[in-house]
Amino acid sequence: MCGIIGYTTRKDNSVEVAVNGLKNLEYRGYDSSGIAFFDGEKIDIVKAKGKIANLDDKLASQDTKACCAIAHTRWATHGEPNEANAHPHNVGKVTLVHNGIIENYAVLKEDLKAKGYSFNSDTDTEVAAAYLDYCYSQTGDKLQALVDACDSIRGSYAFDVIYEDEPTTIYATRKDSPLVVGYAHDGNFAASDISAILDYTNKYSLINEGEFVKITKDIVTFYDKDLNKIEKKSETATWDANQYQKNGYDHFMLKEIYEQPKVINDIFERYYTDCSYKDIDFSKFDKIHIVACGSAMHASLVGKYLLQTYGKIPVMVEIASEYRYSEELITPSTLLIVVSQSGETADTLAALRLAKEKGAYVVGIVNAVGSTIAREVDKCIYTYAGPEIAVATTKGYTSQVAIFSTLALMAMEEKGYLTQETAKEIKEDMLSIEPKINDVIANREKYLDIANDIYNHNDLFFLGRGIDSSVCMEGSLKLKEISYMHSESYSAGELKHGTISLIDKGTPVISIATDEKLFEKTVSNIKETKARGSYSIFVTTENHGDDHSEFADKTIILPKTTDFTEPILTVVALQLVAYETAKLRGCDIDKPRNLAKSVTVE
Ligand code: AGP
Repeated sequence: MCGIIGYTTRKDNSVEVAVNGLKNLEYRGYDSSGIAFFDGEKIDIVKAKGKIANLDDKLASQDTKACCAIAHTRWATHGEPNEANAHPHNVGKVTLVHNGIIENYAVLKEDLKAKGYSFNSDTDTEVAAAYLDYCYSQTGDKLQALVDACDSIRGSYAFDVIYEDEPTTIYATRKDSPLVVGYAHDGNFAASDISAILDYTNKYSLINEGEFVKITKDIVTFYDKDLNKIEKKSETATWDANQYQKNGYDHFMLKEIYEQPKVINDIFERYYTDCSYKDIDFSKFDKIHIVACGSAMHASLVGKYLLQTYGKIPVMVEIASEYRYSEELITPSTLLIVVSQSGETADTLAALRLAKEKGAYVVGIVNAVGSTIAREVDKCIYTYAGPEIAVATTKGYTSQVAIFSTLALMAMEEKGYLTQETAKEIKEDMLSIEPKINDVIANREKYLDIANDIYNHNDLFFLGRGIDSSVCMEGSLKLKEISYMHSESYSAGELKHGTISLIDKGTPVISIATDEKLFEKTVSNIKETKARGSYSIFVTTENHGDDHSEFADKTIILPKTTDFTEPILTVVALQLVAYETAKLRGCDIDKPRNLAKSVTVE
């Protein structure tokens, strides 16, 4: 996902500040970067393919004293990653950076060509710049031009714009893509998210859909689409820049894995002491849909298992990008739960908006405070996991699972299925989970040993039944994402219906059996793969002893807890196996190729 930052200041360090801001946006994923800055006479534009260090190298060879700059990290959507396609884009009097996708750019481009415009890139963003320049040529008013351009542009966008004839003012607006305004001592910002500006300020305001902002070094003015001024309160970010640092860990991913014990403990403690969502009444709805993408969808599958098994509530989990094809199922009696770490995932946002159009009640399980999804749901349950920088989610996923565990507990209680004894057992389990997660994390040698066995393979299987099958999906994705090894998660009972033909001598198979009811059946499936030569890695709980050499070459033994916390322990072990494997393969663990931290395009 692209990152944008604009800074206008009474000093002359806007380039240094904007580039530093880009570095704090690197986690979003990118393949090129660029900056435009007003040097007192003209607007210079410098771009570079690849890492921001390449942009830094180019800037080092020129005078970059400037009081206003807009900068961009590009995750290519239209046009390959190269300098010509990198932002900022300048057309006529307009220079801008953009995060999002202009869906009607082709039509606009043809119309603009007929008006005499020519183009130097393959991007939709350059078309937006040209169209804004055209609108400005028609109205002569910078804000009105931005309103007029956005009236015709379809798609998603967060724009930072500077005009040639007012080069120290930044104009900004957004639709679907995130954008925040920051208020600093020496100037003001407009950036994709707070992480870009936390080194300079923790004072910010959120820009809502259809709002327009004029930003000078001294004043920030908000307008609605009729250009009426809007009063906007300033907020104070509760997290600090330090949380955006690795603090001694080799990778953000490892740091975030180690943060999980406290994050999960805090979620459970909050549930029992200050729950903000106990008012969700499941009995008011005739169906529950849970919609998300990627790991958030995998967490949703664990949530489905728990809500169905313990709350006796039928649940449909759907991938967000597929949900629109189920729209006939959505009614005002539907409870939709959307799950998103970033709160900006376009597919999930689209599903949320569809459901709201149909009258459904929408609850969000979100980590990023103030994010678009958090603002648009009817009720937001924050996971408060803190900023997650690594592209591959860890604490984001486990915190979602923990919230689902509490929702399942609520459903049990609401339906009268929760006995005092069970309530006591689950509460004790939840409030004692922190040291158990730490114990799982501490077993690093075991994970490294397993990583050494598997890292030079390119096909690997994860097998499980019931709740373990859902955790397998997350374990498989973690390994794929950061080590680039192909792996497949398969229901253990299903393997023999075809896919077992892929099991060859030495094929690594990671099997999970933490569910007592399904232990023997899963072991039988493991033996079926073993009989065909698999290299068997077995993940189970301590109550089955630690000798499984009959069918396992390596074993990971987990503390035995309840279904409400066991998936969290299981996945932490799989996170670390993936982490160690990716390290052995020399992969870019925090910023895997082709991936973005939050996918704000559909
Ligand atoms: C998980 O490691 C991935 N980064 C990805 O699958 C992610 O979970 C998915 O894109 C959803 O993101 P969200 O939770 O921010 O909506």
